[in-house]
Amino acid sequence: MSASVRPQLSEFALDVAEGLSSVPQKKLSPRYLYDDIGSVLFDAITLLPEYGLARADERILRRCASSIRMMTGPMRLIAELGSGAGNKTLHLLRDLAHPGDRLTYRPIDVSASALLACEKQIGRIADVHSIHADWLEGLETVARDRPADGPLLLLFLGSSIGNLERGDIAPFLERIRRHLRPGDFFLLGADLVKDVEEMLAAYDDPIGVTAAFNLNLLNRMNRELGANFNARAFAHEARWIEKDRRIEMHLVSRRNQRVFISCLESAFNFQEGETIWTESSHKFTELELERYAHASGFQPIRIWIDSHWRFAEALWRVP
Ligand code: AVJ
Repeated sequence: MSASVRPQLSEFALDVAEGLSSVPQKKLSPRYLYDDIGSVLFDAITLLPEYGLARADERILRRCASSIRMMTGPMRLIAELGSGAGNKTLHLLRDLAHPGDRLTYRPIDVSASALLACEKQIGRIADVHSIHADWLEGLETVARDRPADGPLLLLFLGSSIGNLERGDIAPFLERIRRHLRPGDFFLLGADLVKDVEEMLAAYDDPIGVTAAFNLNLLNRMNRELGANFNARAFAHEARWIEKDRRIEMHLVSRRNQRVFISCLESAFNFQEGETIWTESSHKFTELELERYAHASGFQPIRIWIDSHWRFAEALWRVP
């Protein structure tokens, strides 16, 4: 499929055309999981008992907010990559705000409805100027708009970093660092390697919320691209890949089938058992995180680790 003859195709449509033609493994970018329904389903995932990393992230932020503040000083400007509805950020912002000064909070997200929820929730304690964009594009906007003085704290929580390919992580962090100024801070939340059964259950919960989150991608293609996927003809699967230390989510075709996508004027064949790979969630070690800091030009300042669910919050500084 050539893009030049169909200039009206959305980025989503082009990525689907490419991802479903990919041989031998069909794949789609995890960023497309987060339409309005997907964002709400993800919020529900964070409440699941099996998805321990969301609560670990929140626990550390709550327990360590005052130590973070001791390292960074009070802040006037905080931005967040992939804020979602900003659930876990609220009390952190409250604890880091400069007394007597208004705090400006700039959440960056691809879901407009998540940003609305974020504005509603955090608007009470900060001036929220949300940015509806991809991570780096949004960060560029923050860098362009910020005042000439005062440090920025950039949040990248919830182990979203785990969605990147391992080889892309250091270059990505370096690009982030280039949008920051000396003296700025970066707070990175990352899930650590732990018991395999525990990790698998976090991505394959028994009541099927994560399955719905994954399968919703098929419905999104139906809604937005005029596809005719039958979500019942696919199954959710989570796999632990030991050599890459990551969980992969797949959509497994339950039978041989052909799917038509009208906006692409193309059909795609699926064999029984064939999968669409929809997400990687890499798991890290402490040492690895420290190496990423150095590799991308940050100075690691401190790391906090939750004792119930091995999850790390790393504070880095731009030297
Ligand atoms: C939001 C990307 C961190 O990878 O754990 C949750 C998304 N996928 N359950 C993760 C997700 C399946 C989540 N991140």
